Amino acid sequence: MPSYLQWAVATLSVAAQCTAQTYTNCNPTKKTCNPDPGLRDYTFSTDFTSGQSAFDHWNITAGSVESTELGAAFTINKQGDAPTIQSKFYIFFGYVEFKLRASNGTGIISTAVLQSDDLDEIDWEQISTFPNSIQTNYFGKGNSTTYDRAQTTSVTTPEDTFHTYAVHWTSDKLEWLLDGSVVRTLNYADAVGGSNYPQTPMYLKIGIWAGGDPTNEKGTIQWAGGKTDYSVAPFKMWLQEVKVVNYNPADQYKYGDLTGDWGSIKAENTTGSSSSSSSTTTTTSSSSSKTRSDEASGGSEGVTSSKTTSSKETVNDTSAAESRSVAAVSATGVSAASMVGNCLSLVGGAVVAAIMYI
Ligand SMILES: *[C@@H]1O[C@H](CO)[C@@H](O)[C@H](O)[C@H]1NC(C)=O
Ligand SMILES: *[C@@H]1O[C@H](CO)[C@@H](O)[C@H](O)[C@H]1NC(C)=O
Ligand SMILES: *[C@@H]1O[C@H](CO)[C@@H](O)[C@H](O)[C@H]1NC(C)=O
Ligand SMILES: *[C@@H]1O[C@H](CO)[C@@H](O)[C@H](O)[C@H]1NC(C)=O
Ligand SMILES: *[C@@H]1O[C@H](CO)[C@@H](O)[C@H](O)[C@H]1NC(C)=O
Repeated sequence: MPSYLQWAVATLSVAAQCTAQTYTNCNPTKKTCNPDPGLRDYTFSTDFTSGQSAFDHWNITAGSVESTELGAAFTINKQGDAPTIQSKFYIFFGYVEFKLRASNGTGIISTAVLQSDDLDEIDWEQISTFPNSIQTNYFGKGNSTTYDRAQTTSVTTPEDTFHTYAVHWTSDKLEWLLDGSVVRTLNYADAVGGSNYPQTPMYLKIGIWAGGDPTNEKGTIQWAGGKTDYSVAPFKMWLQEVKVVNYNPADQYKYGDLTGDWGSIKAENTTGSSSSSSSTTTTTSSSSSKTRSDEASGGSEGVTSSKTTSSKETVNDTSAAESRSVAAVSATGVSAASMVGNCLSLVGGAVVAAIMYI
């Protein structure tokens, strides 16, 4: 399906149902899915100025994206363009930096997100219409019953200047960092006692799309700050570099049950001399990932060491699992396979935009 149509479908779904923020091939809170491809290295980076081989570990999932001397260029030339790339690997807790320059124009959304198969999500979203701010947002298991998660942060000329947008993600807390400074913190417990906390293996997705497309929902266009005028295209975002620290390096990640709890995730190596299955039980898995997460949070560059407490204190699996069984997330109705943003953050964003800018 052309991405234009995908957006149309996505937008319709806002009115129609909006039960799921975006598309997933297999939702591991509903059934057993194939393991996610992992990242065996503790650190990973891509310099997108280095030519087309920069995309070796990325899928270009919509449009065309090219390596240029400024980095990967994501270009909207006309209505329907929504160039997007997606990492071929998932990570399980870690630190991720995106060095990018957002698009200018009206209603163009430049996004860098982490997203999981059960629709946990961590977002940076820059709206071209508002040239001195950027939004942060998150979702847990596609829960969108209220729209209070988006926040707006000031940033100096993000459409003219490269800035480093990062997330530091552990089982205890999530931090968004702008040029090395924490601008927002979400503690596990603050996300509805953890049930809304992003905590499952995530892939990385970066792209631009026209929130101001005239065919979009009114609320979406309003959130995007007005209608996109394609006569002044092209609109371009540049992604210079992505740096990753993966706190649980492994060949693959498996959901051990249907809870979507981080403690149920099993990180496994399937190849190589040190081939091992880190965990055969939930208990082993959670303690091993916890340990790694703790070690790593002190070691990642630019990130203040975060003192983590014991997993028993922080994570209450019993209560979390109970609330989750209520939160049945239906992703089946949404066909926007290569969406970058999502209908729910659009709706949420519209509310925020109305407060912030009107
Ligand atoms: C990347 O693309 C390949 C080829 O289409 C596909 O098999 C693979 O599942 C994709 N990887 C991810 C993580 O989506
Ligand atoms: C966007 O920025 C480019 C320079 O990167 C400039 O040539 C173009 O006119 C700008 N477009 C709009 C719509 O502001
Ligand atoms: C997988 O192997 C890598 C080394 O290649 C190691 O760092 C990592 O801890 C292993 N992961 C697991 C889950 O055993
Ligand atoms: C965990 O959840 C159970 C059941 O809701 C509750 O009784 C218990 O106090 C909780 N424990 C902690 C440490 O929050
Ligand atoms: C979904 O999130 C809202 C707050 O955003 C919360 O009130 C509600 O309890 C959550 N639902 C579940 C099942 O966690």
